Amino acid sequence: MASDLTGLFVAGTDTGVGKTRIAAACIAHIAAQGRTVVGMKPVASGCPASGTALCDDVRQLAAAANVGAPQEWINPYRFVPPVAPHLAAAMAGQTISLKHIRDCYGQLQKLADTVVVEGVGGLLVPLNDREDTADLALQLKLPVLLVVGLRLGCINHALLTVAALQQRGLRLYGWVANALEPAMPLQDDVVAALRQRIAAPLLAVLPYAPQASATELAERIRLA
Ligand SMILES: Nc1ncnc2c1ncn2[C@@H]1O[C@H](COP(=O)(O)OP(=O)(O)OP(=O)(O)O)[C@@H](O)[C@H]1O
Ligand SMILES: [Mg+2]
Repeated sequence: MASDLTGLFVAGTDTGVGKTRIAAACIAHIAAQGRTVVGMKPVASGCPASGTALCDDVRQLAAAANVGAPQEWINPYRFVPPVAPHLAAAMAGQTISLKHIRDCYGQLQKLADTVVVEGVGGLLVPLNDREDTADLALQLKLPVLLVVGLRLGCINHALLTVAALQQRGLRLYGWVANALEPAMPLQDDVVAALRQRIAAPLLAVLPYAPQASATELAERIRLA
């Protein structure tokens, strides 16, 4: 990872493609370089019903970090129903404010050299009536690391996401190919097809490895 990188936005081709795992691996990678680093999950849905229990994503990001921070900055919006964020917010009688997320991000920036922000679902997931996850990355002024979950259909999902990133004026820092299945047919060819079409560095090809820790994955990521 470039030593002057102050923040990174981890986006995915979809929900459940490995954003948390890879964000945690990036955090571990940056920490291993001797920099202070903290993770942020601005909006999480599907959290435990108990008001104090951390949602799984927040727990994984915090476990990899080497700086502690208040939960309300790391995870300003926390919803229990496992539904799209703007709908979960409406069910809770709330509206997600990107300004509030920016303020929390600003607090985290004061605590650590680098803040790694995990997105929500895919890039165009709405956060409120007017704004989506791409707007969040734009407002935080962050380059994007795209996690491509390797499964059938991922070429289309990846290229659509890259096109949307370009259209919205976001910078693609690099991408990670993340195996979601033990043996995807023609995986190398799929990665090669994406490599040919994505004009940003391929930072890692991560194998299917359910037990791999963030530290182990960190060693496999070749950050630019
Ligand atoms: N390379 C891999 N090998 C094995 N299992 C994986 C791999 N990558 C992700 N998984 C598993 O897939 C699931 C989804 O991963 P993860 O939670 O990181 O996705 P996500 O994109 O952060 O999802 P969300 O949109 O809910 O935040 C988890 O159970 C995770 O352990
Ligand atoms: Mg996640």
